[in-house]
Amino acid sequence: MCGIFGCVLKDGLAAPIIHSSLKLLEYRGYDSAGEATINEGKLYLKKDSGKIADIHEKFNLDELPGKIGIGHTRWATHGAPSQVNAHPHTDCLNQIAVVHNGIIENFEELRMELIDKGHVFVSKTDTEVIPHLIEENLKRGLDFHQAFKDAVKRLKGSYALAVISTFEPEKIFCARKESPLIVGLAENGSFFSSDIPALLPYTKNIVEVFDEEAVILTHQEVELRKLEDWSPVTRKPKTISWTIEGAMKKGYPHFMLKEIHEQAFSLKEALRVQEKYLDLLVTFLDRSKQVFLVASGTSYHSCIAASYVLSKLARIPVYPVVASEFIEQFGNSVNIDSTILAVSQSGETADVLRAVDHARFKAATILGLTNVLGSTLTRVSRAYICQNSGPEIGVAATKTFTAQIAVLTLIALRLAKLRGKISQDEMDYLHQKLHELPKIIEKILETQEENVKRLAHKYKDSKVFYFLGRGVNVATALEGRLKLLEIAYIPSIAYPAGESKHGPISLIEPGFPVIFVCPKGETYKATINNIMEMKARDALTIGIIDETDEEARKYLDDYIEIPAGVPEILSPIPYVVPLQLFAYYMALEKGLDPDKPRNLAKSVTVI
Ligand code: F6R
Repeated sequence: MCGIFGCVLKDGLAAPIIHSSLKLLEYRGYDSAGEATINEGKLYLKKDSGKIADIHEKFNLDELPGKIGIGHTRWATHGAPSQVNAHPHTDCLNQIAVVHNGIIENFEELRMELIDKGHVFVSKTDTEVIPHLIEENLKRGLDFHQAFKDAVKRLKGSYALAVISTFEPEKIFCARKESPLIVGLAENGSFFSSDIPALLPYTKNIVEVFDEEAVILTHQEVELRKLEDWSPVTRKPKTISWTIEGAMKKGYPHFMLKEIHEQAFSLKEALRVQEKYLDLLVTFLDRSKQVFLVASGTSYHSCIAASYVLSKLARIPVYPVVASEFIEQFGNSVNIDSTILAVSQSGETADVLRAVDHARFKAATILGLTNVLGSTLTRVSRAYICQNSGPEIGVAATKTFTAQIAVLTLIALRLAKLRGKISQDEMDYLHQKLHELPKIIEKILETQEENVKRLAHKYKDSKVFYFLGRGVNVATALEGRLKLLEIAYIPSIAYPAGESKHGPISLIEPGFPVIFVCPKGETYKATINNIMEMKARDALTIGIIDETDEEARKYLDDYIEIPAGVPEILSPIPYVVPLQLFAYYMALEKGLDPDKPRNLAKSVTVI
């Protein structure tokens, strides 16, 4: 997601400090950057899309006057990367500037309301409603504190935001809900950021800002308040001993582990995708005669899961296709009645783009699901949607997989509704269950990580693994296998469990480890039969099971428990998490760096 930083100093210029801190946020990935300061009753602002070094060369980011300022690195979610969409955003009169990390869910509604009141919007971002809301509150006669407070109250979604203004030229107003925000205290002033690395050059003395709190910074003090009732909060500063490198990983030893742990949050953000884009995608899908889901690697596994979900819920058959095979396999049959939903985290995978180009040439409709707004995929798609995962640095995809499946499930639910294939009760039930998944992931991480670590140690010398799942969890088994082989270099195979007896079962000999993805649901009984088949051949059986499942435990040598109550159709999202952890800890057992698997690149831009 976006990075935010700001400071209010006793002496000296804020801009050079903001500029060098933005550079410390670069590691997270970004597409635009900007900063704003206040000096002698005037607001100064510089921003653009592109790399910080290039923006600096063009505008000189050190040359903004004033002791107070805010800065931002943007990872686009609403509106493509461009100068107008870059932060900070301002009100109509350029007196209020805002930086924001998160997603304002109700921004369309607020924007319409403010446009009706005469406000002029220049960007496509959700953030721009914030300065205008404050401006509107000031027009109503509120003082700045009250105007800020009332504006934040109207926001739905996630945010860590910071505001400077000519009305309170010595104060920075911040608020936090779900997105990270930390304050730093130093001799020469107060600082805030979304990320600890950006604070470390100035101070190790930090104050955490908790969820649903506001903080007002002056150069001498910080005032914490609860958003709900504006009551004061007292919290002592802490001294942190992290290095910049350690802080970039938020104290986790690797980005991959950090990103596995971020999944509760990234899933929530994925579920905040904009309804109007879902509607648009669904309209195209509904009218096409053939739908191909085209992707590579982990994104292809999301497509496999989505093919089950779309077929089960919306009753439309779709073909998940490996991008590098698309032209050979379906190149001749794709036509004006076909829709290609290309799924690519980076939006730059060459195989995906080549398949898309071919389909465009054949007049097919191209839709995109990506994590990178402004990527080539967004440019070549008729309509696209962003999965809102924020930057993923570990080469192995983790949080972007679960987010992709979540968005694809939302698409399936909407399509099912449009086609009248789902009852209101079932729809509400699945929506509710989807929104419960972040909590379930938190619980898995809390209760099962040690268990997975123990299993990785136990199985560290196994030369091969076999992953089996049925139904939608064929995708989970494939993804578990891909994670293990790509980062722990352990040759592994994955199959639909029912296919096992048509060949691969001949591999089984005593002690051969077989991992089953075994949620409760329609495929459960058949999976139990497959577990028994393996047990009868003295395989070592490991199951990812529902915590209430007493039956499976009888046939399993080891198991990892998932909280009860997950519908099978949604189960790949939580059930893949232990498999990601297993791959991670296996890599550590083998002395490998999980963030840098050999021969692999984060984005594969060659065919
Ligand atoms: C595996 C992994 C790769 C990518 C694949 C597609 O962990 O990261 O298999 O999933 O290269 O990348 P995107 O989704 O960017 O098209």
